[in-house]
Amino acid sequence: MNENKLLEIKNLTIQYKTDNGLVHAVNDLSLSLKKGESLGLVGETGAGKTTTALGIMNLVPDPPGIIIGGEIQFEGSDLLKLSKQNMRKVRGEKISMVFQDPMTSLNPVMTVGKQIAESVRIHETLSRKEAEQRAVDVLEMVGIPGERFNEYPHQFSGGMRQRVVIAIALACRPDLLIADEPTTALDVTIQAQVLDLIANLKKEQQSSLIMITHDLGVVAEVCEKVAIMYAGRLIEYGTLDDIYNHTRHPYSIGLFSSIPSIDGDEERLRPIPGLMPDPINLPKGCSFWPRCNRATENCKRAVPALIESDPDHWVRCIHIDKAGFFEKNAVSKKTDTSRNESITHTKDTDVEIDSSKLEESLASG
Ligand SMILES: Nc1ncnc2c1ncn2[C@@H]1O[C@H](COP(=O)(O)OP(=O)(O)O)[C@@H](O)[C@H]1O
Ligand code: SF4
Ligand SMILES: [Mg+2]
Repeated sequence: MNENKLLEIKNLTIQYKTDNGLVHAVNDLSLSLKKGESLGLVGETGAGKTTTALGIMNLVPDPPGIIIGGEIQFEGSDLLKLSKQNMRKVRGEKISMVFQDPMTSLNPVMTVGKQIAESVRIHETLSRKEAEQRAVDVLEMVGIPGERFNEYPHQFSGGMRQRVVIAIALACRPDLLIADEPTTALDVTIQAQVLDLIANLKKEQQSSLIMITHDLGVVAEVCEKVAIMYAGRLIEYGTLDDIYNHTRHPYSIGLFSSIPSIDGDEERLRPIPGLMPDPINLPKGCSFWPRCNRATENCKRAVPALIESDPDHWVRCIHIDKAGFFEKNAVSKKTDTSRNESITHTKDTDVEIDSSKLEESLASG
């Protein structure tokens, strides 16, 4: 593995065995992250984001989850092959995760200071006093006065509790922090504070970050790279600039046009029509074809490969050519410009993004 790479996921496939059938949660996912890099993992609910993160943490619940195949290379080892004991060491010490529902990650009958100190002592050989000092330090780092060490979770507001959860995740100075929708349950002001906090801490500790979210505004705030997932597959990957200003995949284009405008005009909040396919019964070929206004019969034949449309900008769509445009012979099923104001059809089949409109939309996200 390239020594600059911290994490490399190769062909990860995870399913859940349920009474209704096999849920294809993560399908042949490959992704890598450099040291110090921050990656936004974006997609609608059910896209497989949390399952991917649980895969990295080796915490996929089994049953019903099954890791069908793949590798997760991290600092020279495949995490999927580590013993339980070694994996426990990696969690907390090397990789920390802020879970989607932080309110349930705290122990209601233990003071927050003790909870932080304990998590440090599990992973590092520090005396009780040293661990307590570390807890005070990280509390202050996340903007909570150290004097509140002896208070219980119920004595903190929602935003403060979220900070405590982040403090626990950071206490062991992980090389990689995975934050799963860390601001979804918070109000807008607190959301901004928590994002600032994560961005600053990332800089100070030089850790890498995977920020899982369905909010493109959050990604713009803290991420350098962006991976967009749909139905358990990576469908577009690139730098923030690639994804925001040179959006290629029809699904990503739809995601951007579903961001509400800055003037709060409800009319412009247009989610992509249709629903994500049932992961027990994924459509043959490109999983997005039932919702894609560019789909042709060819899209239904085989899962499209990821192609590199620009240097290190990858797109999973058979009709995107190397220059990142729709092939001229790709016939749209329907051309619905009315629901996509930020897209201009310059030729019959080419797509150009008006970045000023996107920026305006993003400012509100
Ligand atoms: N414990 C579970 N048992 C069965 N299905 C699950 C379980 N956890 C997640 N899934 C399913 O796996 C798919 C991916 O879920 P998830 O990884 O939570 O997506 P996301 O985080 O993007 O919303 C969804 O269809 C979800 O219903
Ligand atoms: S492969 Fe076809 S259905 Fe899938 S995104 Fe591209 S045009 Fe749409
Ligand atoms: Mg999730």
